Amino acid sequence: MSVAIVYGSTKGTTASVAEIIKNNFQEADLINIAKTTADKLNSYDGLIIGTSTYYDGQLQDDWEAFDKEALELNGKRVAFFGVGNQKRHSETFNDGIGILYELGVKKGAKIVGDKNPIDNYAFEASRAVVDSKFIGLIIDKEVECDLLKDSVTKWTNLIKNDFK
Ligand SMILES: Cc1cc2nc3c(=O)[nH]c(=O)nc-3n(C[C@H](O)[C@H](O)[C@H](O)COP(=O)(O)O)c2cc1C
Repeated sequence: MSVAIVYGSTKGTTASVAEIIKNNFQEADLINIAKTTADKLNSYDGLIIGTSTYYDGQLQDDWEAFDKEALELNGKRVAFFGVGNQKRHSETFNDGIGILYELGVKKGAKIVGDKNPIDNYAFEASRAVVDSKFIGLIIDKEVECDLLKDSVTKWTNLIKNDFK
């Protein structure tokens, strides 16, 4: 199955998480959303989609500018990862990836890598939570600290089986 890890990142944090995913999933292509097209992404069998959150719960700029409606996700296997900051943005924690998740649901994606525990986190509200679980891999580097690489590696190894 052809798989792309596609991310949007302003200051490089989401890009670094995407790189850890790639290091553990060599077969997947690593793509910056700022440098691709919907046609290109539509050519993959599976997508691992990542974004950070800006401006009180908005998508990262490159995702904001991207023609998301042109993405064909019906029946496609898709996993989501998001990067945010719960202390400074407690009421919109990781809303950006929640927005892309909602798009995936609307378009009929076959979502994998979801239903992750929120145990280590403390925030007021998040669009990345459904039924008291995270909808994908949710990262706040201030929470993860030294465990960041391990958390990302663990999740990647889990979802790899869903992309076979
Ligand atoms: C102006 C601004 C607004 C932000 N808004 C949010 C937010 O609403 N929710 C959240 O979880 N994080 C928010 N953040 C935190 C970023 O998502 C976080 O710093 C992230 O690591 C940036 O990743 P990037 O470098 O890949 O873009 C905001 C950061 C800035 C600078």
